[in-house]
Amino acid sequence: MLSIGIILGSTRPNRVGDQVARWVLEHASRRTDAGFELLDLRDHPLPLLDEPMPPSLGQYQNEHTRRWAETIAAYDGFVIVTPEYNHGVPGVLKNALDYLYAEWNDKALGLVSYGVAGGVRSAEQLRLVAAELQMADVRQQVTLSLFTDFENFTVLKPGDHHLRALDALLDQVIAWTSALAPLREAATVTAS
Ligand SMILES: Cc1cc2nc3c(=O)[nH]c(=O)nc-3n(C[C@H](O)[C@H](O)[C@H](O)COP(=O)(O)O)c2cc1C
Repeated sequence: MLSIGIILGSTRPNRVGDQVARWVLEHASRRTDAGFELLDLRDHPLPLLDEPMPPSLGQYQNEHTRRWAETIAAYDGFVIVTPEYNHGVPGVLKNALDYLYAEWNDKALGLVSYGVAGGVRSAEQLRLVAAELQMADVRQQVTLSLFTDFENFTVLKPGDHHLRALDALLDQVIAWTSALAPLREAATVTAS
């Protein structure tokens, strides 16, 4: 069974991102073609990147990095739920991505973003980051508007059309997660 991690990219007190991530998880969990789990970055606190060697070398020295690497290595693909901060990726999410390398490689990625303009600028920046991490970001995106998909900018009430977009996104993530399995297996054999 393929295992997909849903990464919640906001750790702010008072965040709305937890509602978005739970909405994704609840909908995804009805599927039978993969298993889904929520990965809340609050449960994986990391200092600002403090590894002496570039993560692409895989020489992790800190215990918190090894724990994070083990967590991420256990998933075959990901959906990132991201807000947009100052037209970009939240620092806590970028930091969590920067910590690792091989553990992200050859895994599919779907993007669910939210903000006044659907969080699209954050999502677009994440596509550039994904390319460098050798992740396969799928075309379909879910973009939730703080104006029309939240009540008073705080309570998530997404339009039905977003469910169709989320379904298509999950279809694509699962298809690519599955297609990339031989590359992940080859990398495991080389590393061992
Ligand atoms: C530091 C910061 C910068 C923000 N910049 C943007 C922005 O550039 N574009 C936008 O759509 N919303 C922006 N917002 C508003 C967020 O979309 C809104 O606060 C949203 O609830 C953030 O997600 P979260 O509550 O899950 O952290 C910003 C919020 C914060 C805290």
